[in-house]
Formats: sequence, C-alpha cells, structure tokens
Amino acid sequence: MGLFRKIFEKSKENKHMSNVKLAVVFYSMGGTNYQLSKWAEEGAKEAGAEVKVLKVDELAPKSVIEGNEGWKATVEATQDVPVATSEDLEWADAIIFSVPTRFGNMPSQMKQFLDIQGGLWASGKTVNKVVSAMTSAQNPHGGQEATLLSLYTSMMHWGAIIATPGYTDQVLFGAGGNPYGTSVTVGQDGKMIEDVQAAVKHQAKRTVQVAEWVKKGNQ
Ligand SMILES: Cc1cc2nc3c(=O)[nH]c(=O)nc-3n(C[C@H](O)[C@H](O)[C@H](O)COP(=O)(O)O)c2cc1C
Repeated sequence: MGLFRKIFEKSKENKHMSNVKLAVVFYSMGGTNYQLSKWAEEGAKEAGAEVKVLKVDELAPKSVIEGNEGWKATVEATQDVPVATSEDLEWADAIIFSVPTRFGNMPSQMKQFLDIQGGLWASGKTVNKVVSAMTSAQNPHGGQEATLLSLYTSMMHWGAIIATPGYTDQVLFGAGGNPYGTSVTVGQDGKMIEDVQAAVKHQAKRTVQVAEWVKKGNQ
C-alpha cells in the first residue's frame, strides 16, 4: 500500500474512533446492574471509547451477605472488578452509573461513593463530565425514574452534563421506553423481564457521542 493510501485509510479509521474515556460505575446485589454495565461497555467500545467497568465498595456487613445466596454469588462474580476511585472519575470524560432501586433511591453504597468525591468536586474536576444512568427494580413502577433522578440531582451539583436517552432511537420503545435512562424489571427469580440490551448499548453510544462533542468543543 502506498504512503498516501495508508494515511488516507488511517484518517478514515480515526474519523470513526472516539477518543472518549468512559467509566461505567455500578452497584449490584443480584447481578442485574453488573450485566447492564457489561452491555454498556460493549456499546461504548463499539463506539470506539476506552472503557473501565468499576464497582463501588460494598457497605453491608459480611454476615448479612453470607445469608443471601444471590448476593453472595454476585460478590463472587464481581470479585475481580476493580473498585472505582476518584482517580477513575478524573480520568473519565464520561460516566455511566448503574444501580438497583432502593425504596425509590440509589443504594447507600453508590451514595457513599458520591459522598467521598468532595475533594474531586472541590477542585472543579467533576465539571463537564458527561453522565448518564441506568437502573432496575422488582416492579414496573417500583421507582425507576425516581432512582435515576436521585443520581441526576447529585450530578447537577457536580456541574456534570446529563445525557439521557430521551426517545432518540426506536430501540427505546421495545425496552419499556424510559427516557430518563434504561431501566429494567427484575422478577423474583432475578431474571430481567424486558429485553433492554439494545437500549443499554444505544445509551452508551449516545453518552460517548455527547462526550465526544463536549471534548471537541472544549479543546
Ligand atoms: C432494600 C431494598 C429495597 C428495594 N426497593 C425496591 C423498590 O422500592 N421498588 C422495587 O421495585 N424494587 C425494590 N427492590 C428490588 C431491587 O431494586 C431489585 O432487586 C434490583 O433492582 C435488582 O438489581 P441487582 O440484581 O443489580 O441487585 C429493593 C430491594 C432491596 C434489597
């Protein structure tokens, strides 16, 4: 291949490669939000982003986890997933959060993670991060939107740029049509009811795209 051709091919490649760094930060007791996070990783990588999937620290006492088979299994399945740090957030241009609902709120484990970012916030490093969130609940009207809003409230204080899916793609309708962020219903057996994989991937791609626009405009 001639030199010109090589450069031309390379520039075409770059056009489709994003330079966005994405952190997917989740908490999961039964594995659902871990799965959503892995789908988000897939979608973002397809969009060319560099991705880290990270969990937040567990706060529940070991004795409580030990007594719950599903919870114990998730702790084991995620034991090699790194715990998210302030440095990871600083590294990221974009952050996707994924949490199960807890009485219509984010779980305390995620709240604790946000609450230990005071230093990052005070140094202005949370500003202009492009953020988006996903959730799950046992009931179709079990507090999905409220949970996403609980996260987005903190994001407004961070000066982050909230990128929701809205109704930007047909796949949203097949996934329950939550414009605040992908949400899924999880049965008593721990299985997801709606098929949300495509919606999660779309949300991840859109988050990367918005982050790319922000990054480009801020250079
Ligand atoms: C303490 C607690 C509170 C919960 N509150 C709600 C709720 O308000 N509405 C609901 O539909 N599901 C509720 N759930 C069910 C969880 O949201 C559900 O198990 C979770 O979304 C599954 O996600 P995971 O597999 O990632 O843990 C609650 C579960 C627990 C343990």
